[in-house]
Amino acid sequence: MVTLIGNWKMQLSESESETLAKEIVRLWAAQGANKPQAAVVICPSHMALEECAKATKGTPVALGGQDVFWEDKGAFTGEISPKTLKELGCEYCIVGHSERRQHLGETDEMVNKKVLALLRHGITPVVCVGETLEERSAGRRDAVVIAQVRTALANAKPVGSQRVIVAYEPRWVIGTGKAVSPQDAAEMHHLILGALEEMLTADTVKERCSVIYGGAVDAKNIAGFLAVDVIRGALVGGASLKPQEFAAMAEIAADAA
Ligand code: PGA
Repeated sequence: MVTLIGNWKMQLSESESETLAKEIVRLWAAQGANKPQAAVVICPSHMALEECAKATKGTPVALGGQDVFWEDKGAFTGEISPKTLKELGCEYCIVGHSERRQHLGETDEMVNKKVLALLRHGITPVVCVGETLEERSAGRRDAVVIAQVRTALANAKPVGSQRVIVAYEPRWVIGTGKAVSPQDAAEMHHLILGALEEMLTADTVKERCSVIYGGAVDAKNIAGFLAVDVIRGALVGGASLKPQEFAAMAEIAADAA
């Protein structure tokens, strides 16, 4: 399975999100029905989930949240629960995106609680990890990413139909239009898979975990990433807002699966 995830961030209003969801469904529904080996997921902002759920229901386009809180209910002003995401039809949820780490102080410990909550509700966490340019320049890329994986996924043991996706996103690449090379990403994918195998069994990793690449992925470079066997998909920001381009990426993803 190859997973293509569009992260719409806070780029669109509710009505713009609805329009984009409908357009992606229109472009991908027929193709996607014949190509179930690719999971195509859109992650609108929370307020747009309901309309996007209506637009994607019964289609090969799946829905994801961009964040979640770790409790089912309670006095947590401004947060959204995994229960609500589930009710709205989310099958996936991004957690630990670098923008949340940077602007909202999200830590690996918080990400870990979110991962465990999502798994409890049968929602696939898309756990973002990645180093800053300073960390990479200081030769700390591998250590930083491994530490993120170990903490964010502590005690996360997917069983049955539960799945875990780790998105390797070098933080300094996001939004720049200049991705790292597929070889560079592949090195990190191997490293992350190795860390996951130490935490889980090799079988669990093979059956229930995938590592995907994110950071300046577009229709021109996605094939290069997906040609690498350990890169099992892409988390896409900017290019996921362009329906034609995103549908073209979905097609490439399906062919690579
Ligand atoms: P980008 O964003 O594709 O615009 O670089 C990726 C992301 O933030 O997940």
